[in-house]
Amino acid sequence: MASQQATQNPFRPTAGAEPPQLIGRAGLLDEFSYGLQIRSGAPGLLTIFTGARGIGKTVMLGEAEDIARAQGWLVVSETATIGFLGRIGEAMRSAAEELGKGPKGRKITGIGAAGFSITSQLAPAQQLGWRQLGEQLLQLLEEKRTGLIITLDEIHGANRDELAQLAAFVQHFIRQGLPIALLFAGLPAAVSDLLNEGVATFLRRADRIDLHAAAIREVEDSYLATFASLEHPISPKLIRKAAKSTGGYPFLIQLVGYHLWQVAESKETPLTEAGVDLALAAAHRKNTRVVLAAALATASPKDIDFLQAMSEDDGPSSTAEIGMRLGDAKNTIGNYRARLIDAGLIQPAGRGLIDFAIPGLREYVVGI
Ligand SMILES: Nc1ncnc2c1ncn2[C@@H]1O[C@H](COP(=O)(O)OP(=O)(O)OP(=O)(O)O)[C@@H](O)[C@H]1O
Ligand SMILES: [Mg+2]
Repeated sequence: MASQQATQNPFRPTAGAEPPQLIGRAGLLDEFSYGLQIRSGAPGLLTIFTGARGIGKTVMLGEAEDIARAQGWLVVSETATIGFLGRIGEAMRSAAEELGKGPKGRKITGIGAAGFSITSQLAPAQQLGWRQLGEQLLQLLEEKRTGLIITLDEIHGANRDELAQLAAFVQHFIRQGLPIALLFAGLPAAVSDLLNEGVATFLRRADRIDLHAAAIREVEDSYLATFASLEHPISPKLIRKAAKSTGGYPFLIQLVGYHLWQVAESKETPLTEAGVDLALAAAHRKNTRVVLAAALATASPKDIDFLQAMSEDDGPSSTAEIGMRLGDAKNTIGNYRARLIDAGLIQPAGRGLIDFAIPGLREYVVGI
């Protein structure tokens, strides 16, 4: 029933899930959309999204994919775990075979029946096959006046050789004027390192869009609109309080919205302030558990020691000082610093200084 549909909880506090309203991202995909019209070599067709955990990077890739699909573009969506180049190759192969079945019935060459290896490096023959296949597919798409968009998420964890190879292929296609777009997402400090390492200078020319928290005002407006469809709407004053408590942080916007909705729909009367406070507390507890626990899931005991040594400071820590606290040599500390930056747990904070990269992490590590 339609009314049933309209009152279902619309919030989506899950990684990568499309939110009911995309808050605070107006205009960010304009360059990309404009590039889709030009179809080859436009700056917006090479874009990197960076931002902290839970800020909405994966959602932005999804939005870009939707826009491209609506224009008839072919979408290949991947995460940068080992073997992504081979997986992209396989996706291109099925698409090319599918398209090649058209009236002209073109035969797809490129790679033998064995397929692409799902390791970090393609063998030379496979590299050639990948490139030929890409060219064929892009030419088929060019005839249809569309193109191919490849999105690669979690790029900070990518194998460097594999990434350099992908960049080289794409650069080659662009030079030939073929319709290709490449969009990435990753954690900011790790992406900066990756670009500075010179893995592929070509990638440095990408448009970099750093995602931040949304303005509280926009969260409030969005909540007002969304909660208006509740049977017993929440008072504007309490909505403002809820919006403020999110700090404009997208994952919290969804968590707070979700919990508020859940409590509100179970009541026969509008929510009181006490009811709202309960929902906010539950949402914030969940945020701590999910974001911080997930961020630390791959941390080693030594990583935790390092973070705990940092937590003795109230603000940024000096790496030299951390070395003394832990009694470790400079290069050991340097290794851990790099590891933790890559994991998105800490970030550089000026000369010789580092700081926690996720709100609440300092307090959290004290208690583990
Ligand atoms: N602009 C937005 N407005 C409202 N909610 C959003 C927005 N962007 C993302 N969200 C919500 O925030 C949560 C996190 O989004 P997403 O998974 O894209 O973040 P992420 O940056 O990719 O995180 P991670 O680094 O952990 O992969 C999801 O629940 C999503 O629905
Ligand atoms: Mg993500």
